[in-house]
Amino acid sequence: MFAVQYHRYGGSEVLRVEEAVEPHAGPGQVRIAVRATGVTPADWYLRSGMLRSVATVGFPHIPGMDAAGIVDEVGEGVTGTAVGDAVFGLVPFADLGGGAAQYAVLEAWAPKPRSWSFEEAGGAAGNIDTATRVLEALAAAEGMTLLIEGAAGGVGTMTAQLARARGLTVIGTASEGNHGFLQQLGVIPVTYGAGLADRLAPLAPHGVDVVLDAAGKGSLAELVAIAGGPHRVVTIADFDADRHGVRYSRSEAGQSPGWAGLPRAADLADQGRLTVPLHAVFPLEEAAAAHDMSATGHARGKIVISVP
Ligand SMILES: NC(=O)c1ccc[n+]([C@@H]2O[C@H](COP(=O)([O-])OP(=O)(O)OC[C@H]3O[C@@H](n4cnc5c(N)ncnc54)[C@H](OP(=O)(O)O)[C@@H]3O)[C@@H](O)[C@H]2O)c1
Repeated sequence: MFAVQYHRYGGSEVLRVEEAVEPHAGPGQVRIAVRATGVTPADWYLRSGMLRSVATVGFPHIPGMDAAGIVDEVGEGVTGTAVGDAVFGLVPFADLGGGAAQYAVLEAWAPKPRSWSFEEAGGAAGNIDTATRVLEALAAAEGMTLLIEGAAGGVGTMTAQLARARGLTVIGTASEGNHGFLQQLGVIPVTYGAGLADRLAPLAPHGVDVVLDAAGKGSLAELVAIAGGPHRVVTIADFDADRHGVRYSRSEAGQSPGWAGLPRAADLADQGRLTVPLHAVFPLEEAAAAHDMSATGHARGKIVISVP
Protein backbone atom coordinates (compact mmCIF):
# COMPACT_ATOMS: atom_id res chain seq x y z
CA MET A 1 0.00 0.00 0.00
CA PHE A 2 1.07 3.64 -0.20
CA ALA A 3 1.50 5.76 2.92
CA VAL A 4 3.17 8.83 4.34
CA GLN A 5 6.05 7.60 6.50
CA TYR A 6 9.17 8.81 8.24
CA HIS A 7 12.26 6.81 9.10
CA ARG A 8 13.84 9.20 11.61
CA TYR A 9 12.84 12.12 13.83
CA GLY A 10 13.12 15.53 12.20
CA GLY A 11 11.35 18.42 10.47
CA SER A 12 8.46 17.90 8.07
CA GLU A 13 11.00 17.11 5.31
CA VAL A 14 11.34 13.59 6.77
CA LEU A 15 7.80 12.77 5.57
CA ARG A 16 7.73 10.67 2.38
CA VAL A 17 4.92 9.07 0.36
CA GLU A 18 6.18 5.54 -0.33
CA GLU A 19 5.34 1.83 -0.24
CA ALA A 20 4.51 0.65 3.29
CA VAL A 21 3.56 -2.56 5.06
CA GLU A 22 -0.23 -3.14 5.05
CA PRO A 23 -1.89 -3.41 8.47
CA HIS A 24 -4.63 -5.98 9.12
CA ALA A 25 -7.58 -5.91 11.50
CA GLY A 26 -6.85 -7.73 14.75
CA PRO A 27 -9.51 -8.92 17.20
CA GLY A 28 -12.01 -6.17 17.94
CA GLN A 29 -10.68 -3.97 15.12
CA VAL A 30 -11.67 -3.04 11.59
CA ARG A 31 -9.48 -2.05 8.67
CA ILE A 32 -10.57 0.79 6.40
CA ALA A 33 -9.60 1.98 2.96
CA VAL A 34 -8.76 5.48 4.17
CA ARG A 35 -10.40 8.53 2.60
CA ALA A 36 -9.11 11.15 5.07
CA THR A 37 -7.07 11.46 8.26
CA GLY A 38 -6.78 14.26 10.81
CA VAL A 39 -3.64 16.22 11.64
CA THR A 40 -3.16 16.97 15.33
CA PRO A 41 -0.28 18.77 17.08
CA ALA A 42 0.79 15.39 18.53
CA ASP A 43 1.59 14.22 14.97
CA TRP A 44 4.38 16.75 14.60
CA TYR A 45 5.40 16.61 18.29
CA LEU A 46 6.03 12.87 17.75
CA ARG A 47 7.69 13.37 14.34
CA SER A 48 10.08 16.02 15.72
CA GLY A 49 11.24 13.68 18.50
CA MET A 50 10.30 16.19 21.24
CA LEU A 51 8.14 13.53 22.96
CA ARG A 52 10.72 10.75 22.74
CA SER A 53 11.26 10.64 26.52
CA VAL A 54 7.57 9.83 27.07
CA ALA A 55 6.38 8.28 23.77
CA THR A 56 8.65 6.62 21.25
CA VAL A 57 7.52 5.59 17.79
CA GLY A 58 8.77 2.58 15.82
CA PHE A 59 10.34 3.39 12.44
CA PRO A 60 9.14 3.62 9.77
CA HIS A 61 6.21 5.47 11.32
CA ILE A 62 2.95 6.51 9.65
CA PRO A 63 1.34 9.61 11.24
CA GLY A 64 -2.41 10.17 11.63
CA MET A 65 -4.29 9.26 14.81
CA ASP A 66 -7.80 9.24 13.42
CA ALA A 67 -9.32 8.53 10.03
CA ALA A 68 -12.46 7.90 8.00
CA GLY A 69 -13.03 5.50 5.14
CA ILE A 70 -14.72 2.32 3.97
CA VAL A 71 -14.42 -0.88 6.00
CA ASP A 72 -12.58 -3.60 4.03
CA GLU A 73 -11.67 -6.06 6.82
CA VAL A 74 -13.57 -6.92 10.00
CA GLY A 75 -11.60 -8.42 12.89
CA GLU A 76 -12.60 -11.35 15.08
CA GLY A 77 -15.38 -10.55 17.54
CA VAL A 78 -16.61 -7.41 15.79
CA THR A 79 -20.39 -7.19 15.46
CA GLY A 80 -22.58 -4.53 13.89
CA THR A 81 -20.03 -3.40 11.29
CA ALA A 82 -19.60 -4.97 7.83
CA VAL A 83 -17.29 -4.66 4.85
CA GLY A 84 -18.44 -1.67 2.80
CA ASP A 85 -19.63 0.46 5.74
CA ALA A 86 -18.47 4.09 5.85
CA VAL A 87 -17.00 4.77 9.32
CA PHE A 88 -14.76 7.18 11.20
CA GLY A 89 -12.66 6.40 14.25
CA LEU A 90 -9.41 6.11 16.15
CA VAL A 91 -6.21 4.41 15.06
CA PRO A 92 -4.89 2.13 17.89
CA PHE A 93 -3.32 4.27 20.60
CA ALA A 94 -0.46 1.82 21.06
CA ASP A 95 0.66 2.57 17.49
CA LEU A 96 0.37 6.36 17.94
CA GLY A 97 -0.60 6.78 14.32
CA GLY A 98 -1.19 5.18 10.97
CA GLY A 99 -4.05 7.08 9.32
CA ALA A 100 -2.05 8.73 6.53
CA ALA A 101 -2.12 5.61 4.40
CA GLN A 102 -4.12 3.64 1.86
CA TYR A 103 -5.32 1.31 4.65
CA ALA A 104 -5.51 1.83 8.41
CA VAL A 105 -6.78 -0.16 11.38
CA LEU A 106 -9.31 1.40 13.78
CA GLU A 107 -9.83 0.32 17.41
CA ALA A 108 -12.91 2.49 18.05
CA TRP A 109 -15.31 3.79 15.42
CA ALA A 110 -18.85 4.83 14.56
CA PRO A 111 -20.86 5.08 11.34
CA LYS A 112 -19.89 8.15 9.30
CA PRO A 113 -22.70 10.69 9.61
CA ARG A 114 -24.39 11.27 6.26
CA SER A 115 -24.12 15.02 6.81
CA TRP A 116 -20.30 14.92 7.05
CA SER A 117 -17.91 14.62 4.14
CA PHE A 118 -15.12 12.07 4.49
CA GLU A 119 -12.73 14.98 5.16
CA GLU A 120 -14.89 16.21 8.05
CA ALA A 121 -15.30 12.69 9.43
CA GLY A 122 -11.57 11.95 9.04
CA GLY A 123 -10.65 14.78 11.39
CA ALA A 124 -13.37 14.22 13.98
CA ALA A 125 -12.68 11.13 16.09
CA GLY A 126 -9.61 12.25 18.03
CA ASN A 127 -11.22 15.50 19.09
CA ILE A 128 -14.51 13.79 20.00
CA ASP A 129 -12.54 11.32 22.16
CA THR A 130 -10.67 14.14 23.90
CA ALA A 131 -13.72 16.38 24.30
CA THR A 132 -15.84 13.56 25.74
CA ARG A 133 -13.09 12.51 28.17
CA VAL A 134 -12.67 16.12 29.35
CA LEU A 135 -16.39 16.83 29.74
CA GLU A 136 -16.74 13.64 31.82
CA ALA A 137 -13.74 14.61 33.97
CA LEU A 138 -15.30 18.03 34.61
CA ALA A 139 -18.73 16.46 35.32
CA ALA A 140 -20.06 18.99 32.84
CA ALA A 141 -23.84 19.19 33.17
CA GLU A 142 -26.77 21.22 31.87
CA GLY A 143 -26.90 24.75 33.22
CA MET A 144 -23.17 25.06 33.93
CA THR A 145 -20.88 27.62 32.33
CA LEU A 146 -17.71 26.22 30.71
CA LEU A 147 -14.72 28.37 29.80
CA ILE A 148 -12.45 26.96 27.09
CA GLU A 149 -8.98 28.46 26.83
CA GLY A 150 -8.09 27.96 23.15
CA ALA A 151 -11.62 27.45 21.79
CA ALA A 152 -10.99 28.00 18.07
CA GLY A 153 -8.76 24.95 17.42
CA GLY A 154 -9.63 21.33 16.75
CA VAL A 155 -10.27 20.28 20.36
CA GLY A 156 -11.83 23.61 21.31
CA THR A 157 -14.44 23.64 18.54
CA MET A 158 -15.45 20.04 19.23
CA THR A 159 -15.59 20.46 23.02
CA ALA A 160 -17.61 23.66 22.68
CA GLN A 161 -20.25 22.03 20.49
CA LEU A 162 -20.54 18.87 22.61
CA ALA A 163 -20.86 21.03 25.73
CA ARG A 164 -23.57 23.14 24.06
CA ALA A 165 -25.40 19.92 23.17
CA ARG A 166 -25.30 18.97 26.89
CA GLY A 167 -26.94 22.30 27.74
CA LEU A 168 -23.92 24.24 28.97
CA THR A 169 -23.16 27.87 28.29
CA VAL A 170 -19.73 28.05 26.65
CA ILE A 171 -17.30 30.96 26.73
CA GLY A 172 -14.20 30.52 24.61
CA THR A 173 -10.93 32.39 24.25
CA ALA A 174 -9.50 33.13 20.81
CA SER A 175 -7.75 35.89 18.93
CA GLU A 176 -10.17 38.60 17.79
CA GLY A 177 -10.16 37.37 14.20
CA ASN A 178 -11.82 34.15 15.39
CA HIS A 179 -14.58 35.73 17.49
CA GLY A 180 -17.21 35.68 14.72
CA PHE A 181 -16.31 32.06 13.98
CA LEU A 182 -16.87 31.10 17.64
CA GLN A 183 -20.19 32.93 17.74
CA GLN A 184 -21.39 30.82 14.79
CA LEU A 185 -20.70 27.75 16.97
CA GLY A 186 -22.81 29.18 19.80
CA VAL A 187 -19.78 30.21 21.85
CA ILE A 188 -19.39 33.55 23.63
CA PRO A 189 -15.94 34.75 22.51
CA VAL A 190 -13.35 36.55 24.61
CA THR A 191 -9.74 37.48 23.89
CA TYR A 192 -7.06 35.44 25.70
CA GLY A 193 -4.13 36.89 27.66
CA ALA A 194 -3.55 38.98 30.79
CA GLY A 195 -6.70 40.46 32.32
CA LEU A 196 -8.97 37.60 31.22
CA ALA A 197 -10.86 37.61 34.55
CA ASP A 198 -11.82 41.27 34.05
CA ARG A 199 -13.03 40.67 30.51
CA LEU A 200 -15.05 37.65 31.67
CA ALA A 201 -16.89 39.45 34.45
CA PRO A 202 -19.61 41.00 32.23
CA LEU A 203 -19.84 37.82 30.09
CA ALA A 204 -20.34 35.45 33.04
CA PRO A 205 -22.08 37.46 35.77
CA HIS A 206 -22.71 34.28 37.80
CA GLY A 207 -19.14 33.06 37.34
CA VAL A 208 -17.55 30.16 35.50
CA ASP A 209 -18.21 26.62 36.81
CA VAL A 210 -15.60 24.58 34.93
CA VAL A 211 -12.59 25.28 32.69
CA LEU A 212 -10.79 23.39 29.93
CA ASP A 213 -7.30 24.59 29.12
CA ALA A 214 -6.85 23.48 25.50
CA ALA A 215 -4.05 25.95 24.82
CA GLY A 216 -1.28 25.18 27.31
CA LYS A 217 0.08 28.72 27.17
CA GLY A 218 0.88 29.13 30.87
CA SER A 219 -2.44 30.58 32.03
CA LEU A 220 -3.35 27.86 34.58
CA ALA A 221 -2.91 30.10 37.64
CA GLU A 222 -5.40 32.62 36.23
CA LEU A 223 -7.78 29.85 35.07
CA VAL A 224 -7.77 28.29 38.57
CA ALA A 225 -8.60 31.68 40.09
CA ILE A 226 -11.41 32.19 37.55
CA ALA A 227 -12.89 28.73 38.24
CA GLY A 228 -12.61 29.06 42.01
CA GLY A 229 -10.31 26.05 42.54
CA PRO A 230 -8.05 23.60 40.72
CA HIS A 231 -10.58 20.75 40.87
CA ARG A 232 -12.78 22.71 38.46
CA VAL A 233 -10.03 22.88 35.82
CA VAL A 234 -8.69 20.25 33.40
CA THR A 235 -5.78 20.84 31.03
CA ILE A 236 -4.86 18.76 27.99
CA ALA A 237 -1.87 20.86 27.05
CA ASP A 238 0.03 22.21 30.08
CA PHE A 239 2.66 19.82 31.49
CA ASP A 240 2.88 22.12 34.54
CA ALA A 241 -0.56 20.95 35.69
CA ASP A 242 0.70 19.25 38.89
CA ARG A 243 2.23 22.45 40.20
CA HIS A 244 -1.22 24.07 40.03
CA GLY A 245 -3.08 21.03 41.44
CA VAL A 246 -4.87 20.72 38.08
CA ARG A 247 -5.71 17.41 36.37
CA TYR A 248 -3.90 16.69 33.11
CA SER A 249 -6.09 14.55 30.83
CA ARG A 250 -4.54 12.43 28.08
CA SER A 251 -5.35 9.35 26.01
CA GLU A 252 -4.43 6.03 27.58
CA ALA A 253 -4.07 2.66 25.94
CA GLY A 254 -7.23 0.53 26.15
CA GLN A 255 -10.87 1.44 26.43
CA SER A 256 -11.20 5.22 26.76
CA PRO A 257 -14.20 7.01 28.28
CA GLY A 258 -14.03 9.09 25.10
CA TRP A 259 -14.90 6.16 22.83
CA ALA A 260 -18.55 6.29 23.91
CA GLY A 261 -18.63 9.79 22.48
CA LEU A 262 -18.20 8.59 18.90
CA PRO A 263 -21.70 7.15 18.25
CA ARG A 264 -23.28 9.95 20.29
CA ALA A 265 -21.46 12.53 18.18
CA ALA A 266 -22.53 10.77 14.99
CA ASP A 267 -26.16 11.00 16.14
CA LEU A 268 -25.76 14.71 16.91
CA ALA A 269 -24.22 15.25 13.47
CA ASP A 270 -27.15 13.51 11.79
CA GLN A 271 -29.47 15.85 13.72
CA GLY A 272 -27.50 18.79 12.29
CA ARG A 273 -26.16 19.72 15.74
CA LEU A 274 -22.45 18.96 15.29
CA THR A 275 -20.06 20.17 12.62
CA VAL A 276 -16.34 19.70 11.99
CA PRO A 277 -15.10 23.11 10.87
CA LEU A 278 -12.17 22.52 8.53
CA HIS A 279 -9.25 24.92 8.52
CA ALA A 280 -7.60 23.25 5.51
CA VAL A 281 -7.55 20.00 3.54
CA PHE A 282 -4.25 18.81 2.03
CA PRO A 283 -3.69 15.97 -0.45
CA LEU A 284 -1.57 13.09 0.87
CA GLU A 285 1.53 14.18 -1.03
CA GLU A 286 1.38 17.54 0.82
CA ALA A 287 1.40 16.00 4.29
CA ALA A 288 4.49 18.05 5.17
CA ALA A 289 2.60 21.30 4.49
CA ALA A 290 -0.25 20.03 6.68
CA HIS A 291 2.16 19.37 9.58
CA ASP A 292 3.78 22.79 9.09
CA MET A 293 0.41 24.52 9.13
CA SER A 294 -0.55 22.73 12.37
CA ALA A 295 2.76 23.84 13.90
CA THR A 296 1.82 27.52 13.45
CA GLY A 297 -0.59 26.96 16.39
CA HIS A 298 -3.44 28.93 14.84
CA ALA A 299 -5.71 26.39 13.19
CA ARG A 300 -9.33 27.57 13.01
CA GLY A 301 -10.95 24.17 13.39
CA LYS A 302 -9.34 21.04 11.96
CA ILE A 303 -6.54 20.35 9.49
CA VAL A 304 -7.11 17.20 7.43
CA ILE A 305 -5.21 15.13 4.85
CA SER A 306 -7.30 13.54 2.11
CA VAL A 307 -6.28 10.13 0.79
CA PRO A 308 -6.93 9.22 -2.87
N1 LIG B 1 -3.94 15.53 26.19
C1 LIG B 1 -4.76 15.23 25.18
O1 LIG B 1 -5.53 14.26 25.23
C2 LIG B 1 -4.74 16.09 23.94
C3 LIG B 1 -5.53 15.75 22.84
C4 LIG B 1 -5.53 16.61 21.74
C5 LIG B 1 -4.74 17.76 21.75
N2 LIG B 1 -3.96 18.03 22.82
C6 LIG B 1 -3.17 19.26 22.90
O2 LIG B 1 -4.09 20.33 23.06
C7 LIG B 1 -3.65 21.49 22.37
C8 LIG B 1 -4.71 21.91 21.39
O3 LIG B 1 -4.87 20.93 20.38
P1 LIG B 1 -5.70 21.28 19.06
O4 LIG B 1 -5.70 20.08 18.22
O5 LIG B 1 -7.00 21.92 19.43
O6 LIG B 1 -4.75 22.40 18.44
P2 LIG B 1 -5.02 23.35 17.20
O7 LIG B 1 -6.16 22.82 16.41
O8 LIG B 1 -3.71 23.57 16.55
O9 LIG B 1 -5.54 24.73 17.85
C9 LIG B 1 -4.72 25.72 18.21
C10 LIG B 1 -5.62 26.87 18.75
O10 LIG B 1 -4.93 27.45 19.84
C11 LIG B 1 -5.33 28.81 19.90
N3 LIG B 1 -4.32 29.59 20.60
C12 LIG B 1 -3.08 29.94 20.18
N4 LIG B 1 -2.46 30.66 21.15
C13 LIG B 1 -3.34 30.76 22.19
C14 LIG B 1 -3.29 31.35 23.47
N5 LIG B 1 -2.19 32.02 23.92
N6 LIG B 1 -4.37 31.24 24.28
C15 LIG B 1 -5.47 30.59 23.88
N7 LIG B 1 -5.58 29.99 22.66
C16 LIG B 1 -4.52 30.08 21.84
C17 LIG B 1 -5.46 29.24 18.45
O11 LIG B 1 -6.43 30.26 18.36
P3 LIG B 1 -6.08 31.68 17.67
O12 LIG B 1 -5.66 31.33 16.25
O13 LIG B 1 -7.33 32.45 17.77
O14 LIG B 1 -4.91 32.25 18.44
C18 LIG B 1 -5.88 27.96 17.73
O15 LIG B 1 -7.25 27.98 17.40
C19 LIG B 1 -2.31 21.09 21.74
O16 LIG B 1 -1.29 21.46 22.63
C20 LIG B 1 -2.40 19.58 21.65
O17 LIG B 1 -1.14 18.96 21.63
C21 LIG B 1 -3.93 17.21 23.91
